[in-house]
Order: sequence, then C-alpha cells, then structure tokens
Amino acid sequence: MSRAPRIVVLTGAGVSAESGLGTFRDKGGVWTQFSWEELATPEGFAANPERVLGFYNARRANLLAASANPAHHALGRLQAALAAAGGSLTLVTQNVDDLHERGGASNVIHMHGELLSALCASCGWRGGWREDMSGADPCPSCGPEGVLRPDVVWFGEMPYRMDEIEAAVLGADLFVSIGTSGSVYPAASYVMLAREHGLATLELNLEPSDNAWAFDDGLYGPASTVVPVWVDEVITALEAES
Ligand code: OAD
Repeated sequence: MSRAPRIVVLTGAGVSAESGLGTFRDKGGVWTQFSWEELATPEGFAANPERVLGFYNARRANLLAASANPAHHALGRLQAALAAAGGSLTLVTQNVDDLHERGGASNVIHMHGELLSALCASCGWRGGWREDMSGADPCPSCGPEGVLRPDVVWFGEMPYRMDEIEAAVLGADLFVSIGTSGSVYPAASYVMLAREHGLATLELNLEPSDNAWAFDDGLYGPASTVVPVWVDEVITALEAES
C-alpha cells in the first residue's frame, strides 16, 4: 500500500460564494462596491472607526445567517478520511468566515483572521465576538473603550501563521487552490512555493484564475459541484489503496 497523501488546500472567497457571502473582485464583489482603502486598512480605521465597525458588523450578521455549503462539507469529509488513512489535510483559508469549521473541518488556518473574533489594538487580546462591535465596547482584558477592532488582517498588515503555512506546503505532496483569484499575496505565491518543491498542483475555481497557468491541472465550475467531485475522487483512491 502506498502512503496516504499530505494535502494542503488554500481557499478563498469563491468557496463561500454559494453560501451567500460576497466575493471581492468578481462583478458585484465587495471591493467593486466599497472602498478597501476606507474599510480594510489601518489608516481607514483610524480615520473613521465607526464606518469600519459598521461594515464588519454587517458582514458578521450576514455570516451568522449563512450556512456551510457542499464544498465546505466535502473538505470536512476529506480531512477526516485522510487523517484516518494516515495522511493529512491542512486547510488554509483567506476567508474570515467560519464555514469550514461548520462544514466539519478542524485546525483551519485563518491567514486573514476571523470575523467572529475581536482584537485589542492596545494589549493584543484576541477573543470570540459574535455581537455588533462599537467604539464604546471596553477591552475585556485591559479595559479602555475604543481599542477593539475586528480580528481581520487588513491591507498593509502581516497575515497570520505564515511560517506554519510554508512548513505545511514544504511537507506536502499536493497543493490545491480553491475559489481564489490568485491576486492577493502572499496567498497567491504558495503555488510557486509548491512547484519549486516538486508538489503536484491543482486549481478548483469557477473559471481559470489570474495564476491558473501556474497549476498542473484545473477543474472548473461552482465550488459546491467541483469540490465534492474532486473529494470523492481522492477518497475513492484512498479506499482502493487500503
Ligand atoms: P476574490 O473575490 O478576489 O476572488 C474570488 C474567486 O472565486 C474568483 O477567482 C472567482 O472566479 C471565484 N469564484 C466565484 N464564485 C465561485 C464559485 N461559486 N465557486 C468557485 N469559485 C468561485 O477573492 P479572494 O481571492 O479570496 O482579504 O480574495 C483574497 C483576499 O482579498 C480576501 O481574503 C480579502 C480580499 O481583499 C482581505 O480582506 C485582507
């Protein structure tokens, strides 16, 4: 029997699109309607905190009303099947939603932070936050008002857990990118890291992304269709090997 594979999956907004959460750069996407400079930068927050908090309050409410879709559930199934067979699935997401967890995945690496978490800009406290956030909320750890912000990574800030992500890619057999435009770095560079280290690479997306050329293979269509198809293929191959 050959060894079960170690797979790293990177997901983007496309995996949650069919759950009703907006993508960013597609027609009608979030950054085609709103200014990322005003809403997703430390400078925009300093200039108008209530505007930024209001934007994320609306996104948080939208997320709490949403459900995981078949793509999230398929990845949860794949993670369990690979672990049972002695392989692994490291799930890295640029998404700030919790739909992978609601689809059954665990240890998800949220490189752009989480909408259901708050961060204290003063003491660094981070903790779960499901309510609307306002400038009047005191930090649960250090106390003052006006220091809490959504625990999401804004433009110009360093994504979380990059060392862990790179280590996971270097130790994997296959890198798969799902529902991301391939235009935001460093996430968009992981396919090149994977290639340089000899991993097989696969893109699943609605249509070829900006860096589709960098992948060995592509499977195109809505995530709720193509992700379960791919997952079933991997699980069938695992079962045939066992
Ligand atoms: P984008 O909105 O840039 O790209 C979404 C991708 O998903 C596109 O390639 C679409 O073709 C694809 N897509 C759309 N609907 C899909 C569906 N139903 N099934 C499969 N694919 C679909 O979003 P991201 O690349 O994830 O960062 O954006 C990366 C980062 O930019 C985000 O994490 C966010 C944003 O600014 C921050 O806010 C820091």
